[in-house]
Amino acid sequence: MWSKVQETVKFLQEKGITKPDYGIILGSGLGNMVDKIAIEITLPYEEIPNFPVSTVAGHSGELIFGTIGEKKVLAMRGRFHYYEGWTMEQTVFPVRVMKYLGVENLIVSNASGGVNPAFKVGDIMLITDHINFIPEHPLRGKNDERFGPRFVDMHEPYSKRMIRKMEQIALEMNIPIHKGIYLALQGPTFETPAEYRMVKLVGSDAVGMSTVPEVIVAKHMGMTCFGISVITDLGVEGMVEEVSHEEVQKVAKVAEKTVGKLVEEFIKTYNILA
Ligand code: HPA
Repeated sequence: MWSKVQETVKFLQEKGITKPDYGIILGSGLGNMVDKIAIEITLPYEEIPNFPVSTVAGHSGELIFGTIGEKKVLAMRGRFHYYEGWTMEQTVFPVRVMKYLGVENLIVSNASGGVNPAFKVGDIMLITDHINFIPEHPLRGKNDERFGPRFVDMHEPYSKRMIRKMEQIALEMNIPIHKGIYLALQGPTFETPAEYRMVKLVGSDAVGMSTVPEVIVAKHMGMTCFGISVITDLGVEGMVEEVSHEEVQKVAKVAEKTVGKLVEEFIKTYNILA
């Protein structure tokens, strides 16, 4: 894993990707957030050595390097989900690569099902914490100390300082947002009404199928993380309706304009701690 990461890093550096200030993982339906980036380099995943290659031709995604304001960003348009059959190592590989390109700040976005009764479809939630219910842990196995320690501190998985800054921005822009806890399940089925109820009972506000593996690995390597979720459907008791991937994409697509504005302003104005 170590040497593969270094090989990929070397390739990307030779392509001109130099120490991005932010890594961004764009989730379901949030891909168009790249419109905010002044793009310098676009690389389809197929062209990047050691990147997992999707079996669905042309649908594996791309890595985008550019700037937002004064800041350099490296965005993944399309991520790898565990339910697709990737190993955990493959799922989190790009995050390992980001770290060794010099990324210290990771922004992750996703679509999720809201179980907090105060949430509505299309709402935006800043992720304050997570619960990992995916049945495989990305750090299981022999630990490579070069990446990070065996036992990883998780007392602040999502940066409180970044959350405060984003709350301030949302207030100034008059954009309503929620804060809440994201629970990750393996998928690929959406939840049954009883499962949504369980998700709520264990203390979370939204449920999805991604993000947590990437954040765990980012924390393993000492990165600072910020997470934002679009509530695309509701798992609130008595309000559970039919949900489809198409509906999730549709809602995410509408909300992505707002998410894009928030993230753009955040990147332009957040004062990165040295
Ligand atoms: N459950 C799991 N993942 C999701 C959902 C959901 O309701 N909505 C979007 N991603």
